[in-house]
Amino acid sequence: GKIFTFTTKATLSNLQGVVPDSLFVNDEKFIFLRDGAIIVESGKIVAIGDYLDIKSQLQAEDKEVDYSGKLITPGFIDSHMHATQTSAVSAYGEKLLTWLDNYIFPGEVAFNSEQSARREYEILLKQLFKNGTTTICAYLPSSYDGADLLFEITDKYKMRAVMGNTIMTDGNPKLITDGETSMLISEKLYNKWHKTNRLSYALTPRFALSCTDESMGLCKEFVESHSDAYMQTHLCENVNEIQDTLAKFPWAKDYLEVYEKYGLVHDKSIFGHCIHLSDSEWKRMTEAEVIFANCPISNNYLGSGLFRYDEAVKRNAKLTLGTDWAAGNTLSMLRVMDDAYKVAMLNSFKLETLTRWYSATLGSAKALALDDYIGSLEVGKEADFIVLDPEANELLNYRLESSYDLLDYLFSVSSLGDDRIVAATYVYGDNVYTNSSN
Ligand code: GUN
Ligand code: ZN
Repeated sequence: GKIFTFTTKATLSNLQGVVPDSLFVNDEKFIFLRDGAIIVESGKIVAIGDYLDIKSQLQAEDKEVDYSGKLITPGFIDSHMHATQTSAVSAYGEKLLTWLDNYIFPGEVAFNSEQSARREYEILLKQLFKNGTTTICAYLPSSYDGADLLFEITDKYKMRAVMGNTIMTDGNPKLITDGETSMLISEKLYNKWHKTNRLSYALTPRFALSCTDESMGLCKEFVESHSDAYMQTHLCENVNEIQDTLAKFPWAKDYLEVYEKYGLVHDKSIFGHCIHLSDSEWKRMTEAEVIFANCPISNNYLGSGLFRYDEAVKRNAKLTLGTDWAAGNTLSMLRVMDDAYKVAMLNSFKLETLTRWYSATLGSAKALALDDYIGSLEVGKEADFIVLDPEANELLNYRLESSYDLLDYLFSVSSLGDDRIVAATYVYGDNVYTNSSN
């Protein structure tokens, strides 16, 4: 049956001054409906428009869901997160490499039983939906069973996700596998899940320091023979990481060249962090049209550094936002947008309100070439949307009383909002979360 949802004029009834009906970012028109409605059928949006127009198209059997006074937006896309690190969140006192050695690698060793993986995945998905995230790009365990399990669970929720077994062939002896074994697992997961329902496979070499020339060579072969798969890894996150990488691969003039040599730098490659990039790296990456997964909360948490939003915007980079859970200590993309703004300010750059919302929704979908399916609320797209209720946060609600236009309104929602204002989350038209306190 159809689900019918709407927002009403009351949503922004406090706004004074001019509220434009549409705003632009990256030549993309943002449309704001004061009193809107969406018709959803079999997981897809079949109509969207003004409430009164939509109401006239309704059939007697249609089920109407009333979200008066709330705001409906596309679900958030978290373009970089680790599905194996939930129990290790909020680790104290270390930067990247010692944080990995002291907290993350031991935690991932302990993750290995099916029972603990299943429990942790269920907690993680519940928290993602509670935060309004409907799509993830995730790093999974290196084992077939541990990785397969999250594909299975996300498939059960009909979720769109891009994921892969994390390839580690060098480093912590309890975590690593040999290259051949990793590739067999990759092949098996790709065959089973890539383009199955809403799922995509991403070849996931963790980072250059956890790979060898041999395993990177195997990754190159995999990418060549599976050109429609994604690739995700970390790049230039931390200065010590960069130093160690250049010492390990002395033939490389910079970090990016390690991945270039192994054919991993292309338009389906998602690079996490990308903080300490040279001018040449920025240039080669934007020319190759790679996907930048920017994770400001994680970068602040681990003291990794400040992403250059000015460069990304100037170079028209394919910018997406990620939590990098669990180096990022929240799953809220609203909180990520907030830190993105602050980090940009530290470089005296004003990151625009809509650029941030775009990077967490349609911009991310475009970067991932998934914009035929997700990222905005348009007829024919998959019905991944969230219902925001700014009034659920007393302070935000008070601030919005003096909001002067739509941009200020959205800016305040992203500056003060978090999971408390997510009233409901829909994945493929199904209600996967309702906030009982809204
Ligand atoms: N670099 C390699 N592995 C990781 C990880 O798990 N988290 C972060 N933030 N950086 C990494
Ligand atoms: Zn990461």
